[in-house]
Amino acid sequence: MTKITGPCDLLITHVHIATMDPSGGTGSYGEIPDGAVAIDQGVIQWLGALTELPISLQPKTLIHGQGQWLMPGLIDCHTHLIYGGNRATEFEQRLEGKSYSDIAREGGGIMSTVNATRRCSLDELIEQSRPRLEALLSEGVTTLEIKSGYGLNLETELKILRAARELEQQYPVRIEKTFLGAHALPPEFAGQPDRYIEVVCEDMLPVIAEEGLATAVDVFCETIGFNLSQTEKVFQRAQSLGLGIKLHGEQLSDSQGTQLATAYDALSVDHLEYLSEEGVKALENSATVATLLPGAFYFLKESQLPPVEKLRASGIPMALATDLNPGTSPFTSLRLMMNMACTLFGLTPSEALAGVTRHSARALGLHHHTGMIKTGYAADLTLWPVNSPAALAACLTGEHPSLTLYNGEVR
Ligand code: NIG
Ligand code: FE
Repeated sequence: MTKITGPCDLLITHVHIATMDPSGGTGSYGEIPDGAVAIDQGVIQWLGALTELPISLQPKTLIHGQGQWLMPGLIDCHTHLIYGGNRATEFEQRLEGKSYSDIAREGGGIMSTVNATRRCSLDELIEQSRPRLEALLSEGVTTLEIKSGYGLNLETELKILRAARELEQQYPVRIEKTFLGAHALPPEFAGQPDRYIEVVCEDMLPVIAEEGLATAVDVFCETIGFNLSQTEKVFQRAQSLGLGIKLHGEQLSDSQGTQLATAYDALSVDHLEYLSEEGVKALENSATVATLLPGAFYFLKESQLPPVEKLRASGIPMALATDLNPGTSPFTSLRLMMNMACTLFGLTPSEALAGVTRHSARALGLHHHTGMIKTGYAADLTLWPVNSPAALAACLTGEHPSLTLYNGEVR
């Protein structure tokens, strides 16, 4: 046990801890029953059983946890949170039998949100996005990713990423920004996808990297998105600029984007309903996370399931995210995604919790910093009035964290 003496900022006692650390605690949640956590300068300084609490600790603030469950702050590693308008009419069209791809080919889908987003000022975009962010935060999200991709020109892509930066300055939450310029082909480049990719790589990416507006890029590699060689061009340029790589892959068909993304050491590949055996093998031989997005599966009434059993058997980390967007996953609840991942994809509740904590941290490259309750990690913590950690996936009955800490500060 680490010896610590002297003052600490905060001590939380009488909590059951789901550390989500495979090397800490017991069972699939890394449990420490009747535990305590000491926090200093935003960082977890000590954790363990209450009976082993170092008597020399002198906390400035003490919180009695009343036997509640302490868990890592939740991490939503894939969102398109910033956009204008909504797509309720497309929902109606799809219920009448039109497919998502048909609507996209007719100029709706992503392009309809692009048009609405282009029309918004920076302030309007922030105001429309604010309630979505607040909904995520109310469930204990302490880190999230926000993608651009509803601009498809430099001006609007910058506006989206600046809106994300503005929201991060206004709220106590960590926001990782991803540039998704290669989300769809804008009408200005109809018939010239290679030319648009050149613009993404040469006119947009360097400006975004220069302004520090994104830490990663993403590409929609799909029949209605971009092909493998176009995707690779974006990856190469991103790598040359020191940005991380992510992929929307194998959502509607097996485009073999996963094999390409893993060859570029992608942080994650996301969706994966049509992932092949080869794709699973590529993931197995990489450090890339498989991110599952059950909200989009559900909302598009998809019937092809991602190969969860194979991913599990291969020991591939599975993250879970909302994919929050107006077209395929208009949901602001990570807990609903946990529930859907269990009911629709067959994850266990502890896999679902790992998917929104430890593995989603890895999907953002933040796994040495957050996503577990562990000494030296950021004190991003949530305290839940529930009798077991499985309740986060099992009981969508209005529970919210009774306490959320972000970098050790009570939110
Ligand atoms: O993750 N697949 C591509 N992008 C989003 C949906 C975008 C949209 O339809 O607005 C997704 O599902
Ligand atoms: Fe997405």
